[in-house]
Amino acid sequence: MSLPPANANGAVNGVGAEDRAASGTATEGRTAAEGRAQGGSASFQDMWRELLPVGRHQDSGGYRRYAWTGADADCRAWFRAQAEARGLSYEVDRNGNQWAWLGDPLAGDAVVAGSHLDSVPDGGAFDGPLGVVSSFAALDELRRRGAEFTRPLAIGNFGDEEGARFGLACVGSRLAAGQLTVEAAHRLRDGDGITLPQAMEAAGYDPDAIGPDPERLARIGAFVELHVEQGRALDLTGDPVGIASAIWPHGRWRFDFRGEANHAGTTRLADRRDPMLTYAETVLAARREAELAGALATFGKISVEPNGVNAIPSLVRGWLDSRAADQAALDAVVSGVERAAREHAERAGIDLDVVRESFTPVVEFEHALRDELGRILAGRDGADRAVPVLGTGAGHDAGILSASVPTAMLFVRNPTGISHSPAEHAGEDDCVAGVIALADVLEGLACS
Ligand code: GLV
Ligand code: MN
Ligand code: MN
Repeated sequence: MSLPPANANGAVNGVGAEDRAASGTATEGRTAAEGRAQGGSASFQDMWRELLPVGRHQDSGGYRRYAWTGADADCRAWFRAQAEARGLSYEVDRNGNQWAWLGDPLAGDAVVAGSHLDSVPDGGAFDGPLGVVSSFAALDELRRRGAEFTRPLAIGNFGDEEGARFGLACVGSRLAAGQLTVEAAHRLRDGDGITLPQAMEAAGYDPDAIGPDPERLARIGAFVELHVEQGRALDLTGDPVGIASAIWPHGRWRFDFRGEANHAGTTRLADRRDPMLTYAETVLAARREAELAGALATFGKISVEPNGVNAIPSLVRGWLDSRAADQAALDAVVSGVERAAREHAERAGIDLDVVRESFTPVVEFEHALRDELGRILAGRDGADRAVPVLGTGAGHDAGILSASVPTAMLFVRNPTGISHSPAEHAGEDDCVAGVIALADVLEGLACS
């Protein structure tokens, strides 16, 4: 089998996924429905092809699937079509997360697989969708095997995982888990000043319904998120699939540097209050502090006012993303960056505000479930050694939900480690290995 590369050209932004899925797009002479009848690996390929053009930008080849936009709606329509094509009961929860159920959603002790379909700006095809597509394909594989389910099974698509539009990651799972208050969610705004409630309403969802969903989460006995690895650990060990141990503590901080707008061609250097300079010193400080602490720090987003090529800026707003293996190292980086920013601001007559916009403490995935995954995967025919267990610096819905639900993650090898980029990739055989591993895990957890 062959999968198209993640950054193949010819994509159309906002293609009507519902129409495509409903008409059963033919690939290699086979319809999606026929593919499903052949089990997980064939249906994976068909689903992958169907989803690939949705929200992909023609020029960059990257994905722009932002929450509550047209591309997001197309992804959601695709999810719904996949659920309905399999005879699963489909529902959207109060926070806009999508669910496809096999068995009684109210019975309790459900096993849930899934991930997200939204993307970072110009993201790759795999971060998120690999987990959702693999979940449907794993179900197809289990049906092909004639598996008998003893627990309800669901597949989930969690809304706004990347936080690309409103700045806060994992909004759907955070709301459900009560880790984001309704008031704070209602205050979220995108770059155009559109609030989250306005965006939800425009997309046909009720923003007044959002809020904690403890009864729903209490009915889940295990959540397993399969995800493309966002590093090269599996490439180095030579394994197609791994199990997550922990997620590093991480957060986002907004730095507002305010100076004085003035003419770029007439204002003497000595007379300027240029916040761009203080911002630049702060970026360098972030790199130094991260190196000192053995941590990570990134300024990847900036907004400038008035944003004119011939005007000294009045405001530079930069967002720091920082992550570390432990809390002490993360604290050291963030306080070191803020200290440096304040010192430079003071000297240059710049006003500085620093606001923590989000924070996720370290997540240690539940040992019992993680060990069970390890046993299931190591006990398979042909398995000659234990599956690697690895930590990650990337955030996930599984990390948020782990406070409420026993949660585990599977990683699929990423040969370059590149992620959050159109070049993100996983090999076709590894994707299939991921589907089979997930099917084995779901069979071990949910079948007799
Ligand atoms: C999500 O992918 C994150 O780690 O930022
Ligand atoms: Mn991501
Ligand atoms: Mn992801």
